[in-house]
Amino acid sequence: MSPEILYLFSNTKLFKELSALRTAAPRLCYHPDVSEFEDFHYQDGELQCESVPLTKVAQEFGTPTYVYSRKTILDNYHELENKFSAVDPLICYSLKANANLSILGLLQKAGSGFDVVSGGELFRLKQIGADPKKIVFSGVGKTATEMELALDWDIYSINIESQEELDVLTQVSRRKGQKARIAFRINPDVDAKTHPYIATGLNQHKFGVDTQQINSMLEAIRRNPNLQLVGLGFHIGSQILDVQPFLDAFTKLKGWADRIRKQGVPIEHLDLGGGLGISYQGEPAPNLKQYAQVLAQKRRDYRIVMEPGRFVVGNAGILLTRILYRKTNQGKSFLVVDAAMNDLLRPSLYDAHHQILSVYKDRPWTTADVVGPVCETGDFFARNRQVPDAMPGDLLAIMSTGAYGFCLASNYNSRGRSAEILVNGNSWQEIRARESFKDLVRGEILPKT
Ligand code: LLP
Repeated sequence: MSPEILYLFSNTKLFKELSALRTAAPRLCYHPDVSEFEDFHYQDGELQCESVPLTKVAQEFGTPTYVYSRKTILDNYHELENKFSAVDPLICYSLKANANLSILGLLQKAGSGFDVVSGGELFRLKQIGADPKKIVFSGVGKTATEMELALDWDIYSINIESQEELDVLTQVSRRKGQKARIAFRINPDVDAKTHPYIATGLNQHKFGVDTQQINSMLEAIRRNPNLQLVGLGFHIGSQILDVQPFLDAFTKLKGWADRIRKQGVPIEHLDLGGGLGISYQGEPAPNLKQYAQVLAQKRRDYRIVMEPGRFVVGNAGILLTRILYRKTNQGKSFLVVDAAMNDLLRPSLYDAHHQILSVYKDRPWTTADVVGPVCETGDFFARNRQVPDAMPGDLLAIMSTGAYGFCLASNYNSRGRSAEILVNGNSWQEIRARESFKDLVRGEILPKT
């Protein structure tokens, strides 16, 4: 099938249904209209990020390399601000999606707050001088040390996920004689209809306070004047494309907030977590207008907090990689590239689909696996897919890898983590250097004998 026909086909209902069922190989490939990637587009025959040809980046920094568009990040952030302007939410960008200091600085300047899940993420925010009044701390297993850091910085809200966590925070805040602003992250028992590894809102998941325990936790708070319950929240999962689960969870959350207020506890805010999905292969975007309208109608005087990660950075980054070899095995074709599962884990871990484009325009398509050099069969970026018919030495762009790309990278197979580059118009800047062999062994100690 020619690329044009495939592209037309890719927009049909049938294609979308087939995509939804994409369990069995070989897979159909969605051929993108590159204008979908706003700030990644072809110019003079080459793929560019904003006005910077990716070949230049590869020349200067080598591959594999993550390349981010400053403009896309800011556009995504402002899109959220605009779409939800009627509710004027406190947007707390979720660091776990991409925690590079330059990206955090950029978002801070744009007015964003932050959602952290570890002492390490709090440390990152210290480096950029973030405003503690715009920081929320989530996570199912905060340690006493992490709670101390949060108390020392007097952040906006520590989101408590169990009676057990509340007990530890009670002890820590007493010991330090410091007040803690807290929220309960409740488990609303709502199905987010996303990949099972990143769905978090059902009773069977480890996340959030069991609603049957809310009353006893309120009792514990009444007994401890250091604890101020100021909010309620949920986070039902990630890469959610249908807003209905958010609305269902919101209705339940607000019901709880109203009941708790009636008991005299002044709940200020409702935290709706992250989870807004993006289009990886032509999926329709979540209906933010509808979501915002419902919130505007129903939130009353509650302040709304949101914790978006993927939505802000997901389509703002690509992983640039070079083809090392083309090989066949009994007629099956493989493109072996210099990026691997240690650089981008999503395909291996979630069977995630990322479009793969040739950096040189108008390459024909072929059916092949795109794989990395790591010694695992699970080290793949595409299997039995239509991919660019490119040659060793050619560059490929693995699209929409700005979220959960670099931050899930590891040193598996003793591979240094890749460089990260931020593009701004026609200029570019290294925002993280490629790791060297020395970096790989830093911190390791040889026995003295
Ligand atoms: N808030 C909390 C409490 C979270 O656990 C998360 C993500 C977020 C906010 C941000 O969610 P987002 O807006 O990015 O969906 N590694 C997976 C995604 C894991 C998401 C974990 N929690 C992936 O690559 O798809």
